[in-house]
Amino acid sequence: MPPSSLLLPCLATRGLMVTRGLMATKGLMATRGLMASRGLLVEARGFHLGPSCCGWKDEELKKRQTDLMKRGLPTRRRIEGVGQVVVVASGKGGVGKSTTAVNLALALASTKGKPKVGLLDADIFGPSLPTMMGISEQPLLDSRDKMLPVESLGLACMSMGLLVDPKAAVVWRGPMVMGALDKLVHGTAWEGTDILVVDTPPGTGDIHLSLAQTVHLAGAVIVSTPQKVALADARKGVDMFRKMEVPILGLVENMSGFLCPSCGTVTRVFGEGGVEELAVEEGVEVLGGLPLDPQLMAASDSGRPLLLSHPGSPVAAELRRIAANLLATLHSTPSPTSNPVSW
Ligand SMILES: Nc1ncnc2c1ncn2[C@@H]1O[C@H](COP(=O)(O)OP(=O)(O)O)[C@@H](O)[C@H]1O
Ligand SMILES: [Mg+2]
Repeated sequence: MPPSSLLLPCLATRGLMVTRGLMATKGLMATRGLMASRGLLVEARGFHLGPSCCGWKDEELKKRQTDLMKRGLPTRRRIEGVGQVVVVASGKGGVGKSTTAVNLALALASTKGKPKVGLLDADIFGPSLPTMMGISEQPLLDSRDKMLPVESLGLACMSMGLLVDPKAAVVWRGPMVMGALDKLVHGTAWEGTDILVVDTPPGTGDIHLSLAQTVHLAGAVIVSTPQKVALADARKGVDMFRKMEVPILGLVENMSGFLCPSCGTVTRVFGEGGVEELAVEEGVEVLGGLPLDPQLMAASDSGRPLLLSHPGSPVAAELRRIAANLLATLHSTPSPTSNPVSW
């Protein structure tokens, strides 16, 4: 008989809580299989899942644990018509995820094989894609009632910001957000997309969990600025994707330093070296680094990202290098759950 004592292994490893919004909002602490993700067992049905005891052999416990973890987990599926899905994430907001995602998508599209690139903005509450890509039109529906991505600057784009009034706040609870994400991901006609770049919201929450659990991802690119508080959150991002068995494709250091246009001095506004340290610690590659550059910000705000507005600038060159490094990583370590890289 299983003992009645209850142990919840690794609910918070390294302080990481990956919980569904509904549970968080209800302050629910007794959690169920639904929120269990690989490596995070949070089923609480009165089973002792620690070291063997009371006659339970390690093997039996392991099998029981695996069965419990699988129960209630959504299954991963491919996004119809998409080759590789790359998510751009970071634990923190304002570190340049959207800026990186948009420019990286454009840089990928300009690489030698000219892959067809899509850009999905999965930030339901704070979509940046419409502004950064200069889009204001709403998507049309095809004959299957799938949304046609809006073509802009050569990319197939989709965002919650194209579906709601840009001035209105989206005030939704978790299940509605998940429904919206599912529509953006699977309710869009992405056919012919070689690489789909997915910009994500800050944190390690519902959206990331849902993407990792329901979509075959080629991997995640983690963006961080060099200071401690951002790195701590980036580390959690790495940890979360690892737990979800999503490969980390590399790190991008953003806002590395500021080159004064008048005197030429480089000021390390957010410190230096932190991203390299994180990369070594986690055994991942640094794909590249972007300086703090007013042009990068202005270009994003104007709807014509820097890669196109200043293609000859050093920052655009670095973005192309990041894209090339990312493609090389995709080619050399194809995810077992993604389509083969064919361009
Ligand atoms: N390297 C950079 N240099 C200057 N401004 C930047 C840089 N990276 C991002 N920004 C600006 O910082 C703000 C936040 O960036 P954003 O990409 O929206 O971050 P996130 O998506 O992580 O919240 C935006 O106004 C953006 O234009
Ligand atoms: Mg953003």
